[in-house]
Amino acid sequence: MRIRPASPVTRTLLGLAVTVPVALGLVAPAAEAAPDTDAAPDTAATARARVPLTIGHRGVPVQAPENTLASIDRAARLGVGWVENDVQRTKDGKLVVIHDTTLTRTTDVKKRFPGRAPWKVGDFTLAEIRKLDAGSWFDRRFAGERVPTLDSYLRRVDHNRQKLLLEVKAPELYPGIERQLVAELRRTGWLDRRHVGGRLVVQSFDAASLKTFHGLRPDVKTGFLGAPKPAELRDYAKFADQINPDHKKVDAAWVRSVHAVKGPHGRRLEVSAWTVDDPDRAVALAHLGVDAIITNAPHVIADALEEDAEGPLTLADVPDAA
Ligand code: G3P
Ligand code: CA
Repeated sequence: MRIRPASPVTRTLLGLAVTVPVALGLVAPAAEAAPDTDAAPDTAATARARVPLTIGHRGVPVQAPENTLASIDRAARLGVGWVENDVQRTKDGKLVVIHDTTLTRTTDVKKRFPGRAPWKVGDFTLAEIRKLDAGSWFDRRFAGERVPTLDSYLRRVDHNRQKLLLEVKAPELYPGIERQLVAELRRTGWLDRRHVGGRLVVQSFDAASLKTFHGLRPDVKTGFLGAPKPAELRDYAKFADQINPDHKKVDAAWVRSVHAVKGPHGRRLEVSAWTVDDPDRAVALAHLGVDAIITNAPHVIADALEEDAEGPLTLADVPDAA
């Protein structure tokens, strides 16, 4: 969801301002300015009862290099309240924000360190990684952008008053990363009530890792990346508050199955679908009742969802009008 004033509703139906049926509770309200609330994102009571949250996947990677500080700053300028990232570990044990397990796609590592194939993140020290240009591959306007440390990334998200969906990427490569992550989150203030209460979700494709993290900090909201069968959901619900699937796996029955199960905090499981860049698909997912949409173009998707929530109205929306 974007942080901005609610857009004025301009559509009319039968000469009545749409704000009237909204006030009467006849239609879902438009997405509001995301209040900088500490409350955890709530789930949708029914499809379209709420506009899904919009989460910037690796920031706003259609406008700035993914997983960089520039990308979350761009998100902030666009009013994107939630960003997603990927966390891995360097050779000397420092946590950094990068998606691929090698440095080749998003940095100039091959040029700077030609003899170090296959250029795995875990084979380079932080000092080496900080020498790399993580912006030029995207656009030379971003030349000199660095692979951020998790420390600097967390501080910038805070500075921007944003919220974070933090993915522990490939934890099987980094034994003990869950405990290290807890220490880092604590050190940077991200385990205080304000953050845990609604500014942080930790997710992973790796159920064992997520279970370990949940065991260490059961108060932190967690998400499992995948689309388990309905019969398996209760097992995941022991350690995950969210089930976050590839959007292509989502249909109405599956969303209902997820919402029917309560997670470790006694609330129904939530669904954050990824990676959705088509506005029509995002609107369709909203109608299926998903709670959040993870997207490379959060500004575009947020607009589409708000538009959809505002209307258009039909005669069926107005009692006795048909
Ligand atoms: O947040 C969901 C998404 O990030 C999972 O896939 O490969 O982009 O990390 P990936
Ligand atoms: Ca990710």
